[in-house]
Amino acid sequence: MEPFRFRIFVCVRERAAGKNSCIGNGAEAMINALRLEITEKNLLGEVKINTSSCLDLCSAGPNLIVYPQGTWYSSLTVEHVAAFVETQLVQGKVYEPCVRREAELSDTFAPIRAAKKIK
Ligand code: FES
Repeated sequence: MEPFRFRIFVCVRERAAGKNSCIGNGAEAMINALRLEITEKNLLGEVKINTSSCLDLCSAGPNLIVYPQGTWYSSLTVEHVAAFVETQLVQGKVYEPCVRREAELSDTFAPIRAAKKIK
């Protein structure tokens, strides 16, 4: 049985100077704000935050994925956290300002799949 209602994987990759990364785009501050908001909303038993390596969307960071839905979010910053928590984690609805749609992700990963010869 899944003990958490939501499990969030947040990229915490930092890349070389001059290259975009989630940490470089404010992921650390965003995660701290997310933890604080989750605590204040009394969601600690329902939401688990896991850190992740690179999700291959570096220039769009901070990036995260919410499971079990598998909903991807990009450019989710400290300013979005309160509304994201209320919409996604309390109401269980997609937080539209930062969501990434499947078609967009398909396009994003197409070069990677092609390079690795994955269908
Ligand atoms: S550094 Fe986060 S997606 Fe690459």
